[in-house]
Amino acid sequence: MKILVIGSGGREHALAWKLAQSQKVQCVYVAPGNGGTASDARLQNIPITDIHALCDWAQTEGIALSVVGPEGPLSQGVVDLFRSKGMRIVGPTKAAAQLESSKAFSKAFMKRHQIPTAEFETFSDPQLAHAYVDLKGAPIVIKADGLAAGKGVVVAMDLTQAHEAIDWMLTPDSSVVVHNEGGARVVIEEFLDGQEASFMVLCNGLAALPLATSQDHKRLLDQDLGPNTGGMGAYSPAPIVTPGIHAKVMREIIRPTLEGMMKEGVPFTGFLYAGLMISNSGEVKTLEFNTRLGDPETQPIMMRLKNDWVDVLMASTEPSAHSQDLSRQVHPLESIELEWDRRVALGVVLAAHGYPQSVRTGDAIEHLPKEAEDCMVFHAGTVSEGDHWKTSGGRVLCVSALGGTISLAQQLAYDAIKAIHFEGMQFRSDIGWRAKKGI
Ligand code: AMP
Ligand code: GLY
Repeated sequence: MKILVIGSGGREHALAWKLAQSQKVQCVYVAPGNGGTASDARLQNIPITDIHALCDWAQTEGIALSVVGPEGPLSQGVVDLFRSKGMRIVGPTKAAAQLESSKAFSKAFMKRHQIPTAEFETFSDPQLAHAYVDLKGAPIVIKADGLAAGKGVVVAMDLTQAHEAIDWMLTPDSSVVVHNEGGARVVIEEFLDGQEASFMVLCNGLAALPLATSQDHKRLLDQDLGPNTGGMGAYSPAPIVTPGIHAKVMREIIRPTLEGMMKEGVPFTGFLYAGLMISNSGEVKTLEFNTRLGDPETQPIMMRLKNDWVDVLMASTEPSAHSQDLSRQVHPLESIELEWDRRVALGVVLAAHGYPQSVRTGDAIEHLPKEAEDCMVFHAGTVSEGDHWKTSGGRVLCVSALGGTISLAQQLAYDAIKAIHFEGMQFRSDIGWRAKKGI
């Protein structure tokens, strides 16, 4: 089988690496891929990013299964396009991807279906938004409605920050936010306290197969200080998601979401990622939905997965009845048992000089360790030049390791990092600190 992974990050490297381990695979193509996928003999980069050109290429090449990594192509309708040509693809349709691409849509959806989330109001008029913030006080959270490359959420600890965020997010011709139809909007919501976890489920209609739990570290600096980033490291499992919390998330968040989407005529397919906030008393709220896998969470999760990933993803694309009838339909996805390595997997992101504000590229990367059973370096912002690599993006590498305990996984990952070098390399030295402290 020929498989296509769409995207160029560490998540896509990990997906392609895992897919290539299947005996059923002839080649895994990655479009456009990165320096790591370029230099792995089992993978091949395809330099196409336009979804129409990619669809034509995939048809001609006889691709049996495609998997979408990032949100961009999903919100452009790549899944609708591939399916219209009769091709199998893992991901949500453009309409279903609104759960991520429009905060206003997803918050209103959660309200309609009583899915626990922070209280909120949506605004397009700056004056009303400013007045609302003054009424509610800080801390308060301001979210741009459209996709904003990870910059669309401001957790404002004081009112000045909140007012500033409203102003730039509601600018009609913003260079940061891709506004949705109807113009600029913001969601303003209550600040939630607690611990975050990433809960990802592979879905088809009402069928839901939860993946191993994980937690990422969004802030740039140790002790969760500094600006928010796409994620500076992650580990799996997340001990905060106890079996009780897991059951509650499936019952109160995942199932009602899939049922709600089905009822509204937008059945969900692909990966649903609920960003959770878990309070000290065990209350769980949905911070956000993503309609894709997390990056860097996917890297440690793939290291723990023991199943043939091709079988799992193929099963997820089997047609389901997709009817409005909510009586349980058995889908092949539901007969799959995922098997996870009992070890902890932990990934540390090595970021480029200036990340996340103004990223410098072109720095030579030296002394990458060889792939090992318990340690793997997934590439993200890299390009290969012969047998060397250079930095080409903000998050450059994710050094991922498996260990019997969180401390052992951490030690192995940080030992591997000691050898690696590029100018301006930034990384956190405390990935996994919560799990290590047992909180
Ligand atoms: P989101 O893209 O909505 O997940 O927001 C990005 C990050 O902002 C989250 O991972 C949280 O760290 C933080 N955040 C978002 N919403 C809230 C909230 N209501 N209360 C506290 N922190 C939040
Ligand atoms: N690591 C968070 C995300 O992928 O959205």
